[in-house]
Amino acid sequence: MSKRDLYDQLASQLSSLLAGERDLIANAANFSSLVFHSLPDLNWAGFYFEKDGELVLGPFQGQPACVRIRIGQGVCGAGAASCETVIVPNVHEFPGHIACDSASNSEIVVPLMKDSKLIGVLDLDSPSHSRFDQEDARGLESLVRILLSSVRS
Ligand code: SME
Repeated sequence: MSKRDLYDQLASQLSSLLAGERDLIANAANFSSLVFHSLPDLNWAGFYFEKDGELVLGPFQGQPACVRIRIGQGVCGAGAASCETVIVPNVHEFPGHIACDSASNSEIVVPLMKDSKLIGVLDLDSPSHSRFDQEDARGLESLVRILLSSVRS
């Protein structure tokens, strides 16, 4: 299956999974499980949510992770500061990268924006170098839109 087909399939699975539930934590938890078990070559998939000016660990799948990240710090903090998706082919070359799991070699961070305001980030880690590309960015941004629309009242 092509990457594009995989993301299309994931988008319809995610829509069904989140249908009828508006709780952000519950939906983020099912989102991380679906993505972690469906996308190949990941060692971590989950969320950090913005609280009082920093990122705080949310639902995830993978090894235990650092709980608090300053905006601007590491890959998650860079995504939160720029409000843009960040793709890092080699985390060991990224200034300030926070090593939660020593197995991680590449990473992608997608910001969660609600009414033009940052509410958190989606973070995926892979043991492979250069695991994530623009197609992953587009696919994950669509999945994040499904999550955000599921909790909109
Ligand atoms: N590596 C991230 C920290 C979070 S973990 O990967 C789960 C970063 O540099 O922001």
